[in-house]
Amino acid sequence: MMRTRPLKVALLGCGVVGSEVARIMATHADDLAARIGAPLELAGVAVRRPSKVREGIDPALITTDATALVKRGDIDVVVEVIGGIEPARTLITTAFEHGASVVSANKALLAEDGATLFAAAEKHGRDLYYEAAVAGAIPLLRPLRESLAGDKVNRVLGIVNGTTNFILDRMDSSGAGYSEALDEATALGYAEADPTADVEGFDAAAKAAILAGIAFHTRVRLDDVHREGLTEVTAADIASARRMGCTVKLLAICERAADGRSVTARVHPAMIPLSHPLASVREAYNAVFVEAEAAGQLMFYGPGAGGPPTASAVLGDLVAVCRNRIGESTGPGESAYTRLPVSSMAEVVTRYHISLDVADKPGVLAQVATVFAEHDVSIDTVRQQGRLDSEGLGGEASLVVVTHRAPDAALSGTVEALRKLDTVRGVASIMRVEGE
Ligand code: NDP
Ligand code: HSE
Repeated sequence: MMRTRPLKVALLGCGVVGSEVARIMATHADDLAARIGAPLELAGVAVRRPSKVREGIDPALITTDATALVKRGDIDVVVEVIGGIEPARTLITTAFEHGASVVSANKALLAEDGATLFAAAEKHGRDLYYEAAVAGAIPLLRPLRESLAGDKVNRVLGIVNGTTNFILDRMDSSGAGYSEALDEATALGYAEADPTADVEGFDAAAKAAILAGIAFHTRVRLDDVHREGLTEVTAADIASARRMGCTVKLLAICERAADGRSVTARVHPAMIPLSHPLASVREAYNAVFVEAEAAGQLMFYGPGAGGPPTASAVLGDLVAVCRNRIGESTGPGESAYTRLPVSSMAEVVTRYHISLDVADKPGVLAQVATVFAEHDVSIDTVRQQGRLDSEGLGGEASLVVVTHRAPDAALSGTVEALRKLDTVRGVASIMRVEGE
């Protein structure tokens, strides 16, 4: 039975994502109404620049007073696609106070202060849905939160930032420069308002915090996530990865410790073998592996950024939240009952690919190997190539060492000690190796 009273939607933000949300709401109005059981009405659109022309949107709906919009009292659902911490946080909590449910794509806010938002939603008996906050169009949070609610997730690993994957893909496949590739990703609507959030790994770290929180039923904040971006990745690293039959990806990895008593979450560039499914994730696509005790390994893949894909996830949430409103129910709220501590990167067990510039003379290899042994780090492979020094006389070599798995603290201690050897002229690059 179709209700005649429409459900009123307030749209906060009408940029890359918001404009697509409004477009789909208008073009698929009848289908959405049939699926929800009531028509949707766009009741207002809050923006910063009211004079900007916004195709397909009634100018009478545009306002710069987002606070007044969420305080109206007749709004059923607020869609927050402004981004950032404030005013988004206050607008969302105010929306709950005035009876609305909320759909948001704001991973930065959810990772920084999700607890405040979840508490406000629960207090006022409303929904907070945020599928679009992680991995764009890919249905990932709902499967983790609902379909896998009866299983035990032990690991989540994947590519969750479209911009950096686009940049690395362009650098690897067409030899494009870093800045050129970043400009292209920005023009395509993939990058955050401040693209340092992408390239320094903050965006992926926020997503890792959200994923770890849902997967392990605990609270993980942005500050708990070890973060390294891709600004240190050089063309030489990418070429070196190729020589090893690998490629470089910015990975987010969330793990439950073997004893089950703690979790870790990290974001950093890593070499992965070309044979690994993540190696073939191109452009702004994302892919995430979820390893669960009973289900085994699941892979989620799809467009990870951009207006239409992200709007698809927002609309999916909007339909779900509207159905809940009609049924006078709410979906699952925050589940953080395990209260597992988040361990530091030092405790993570991983592998390193280390590229050293060394003196090419007797005993150097043995010296280097001793440093690894002293730190209890086992070497998997070593490749040495002699090269000419600055005077063209030889006497120097590149040494590439790949280790077996060891605690990150032991690996970084090894690198620190290597730097102190007279025969080590420099550490050209260090990168973790994953996916084997
Ligand atoms: P944009 O910068 O394109 O759009 C932001 C919108 O918010 C603009 O319409 C802007 O107004 C409006 N806005 C900014 N500040 C205010 C304010 N104080 N009051 C009212 N309106 C304001 O961002 P995106 O659409 O790319 O991103 C929106 C959210 O979605 C972010 O949280 C982002 O992280 C998330 N997201 C984005 C994805 C993407 O691929 N772009 C993918 C997944 C999530 P005006 O138009 O006047 O400037
Ligand atoms: N800037 C983000 C990315 C948008 O590139 O992945 C999608 O969350």
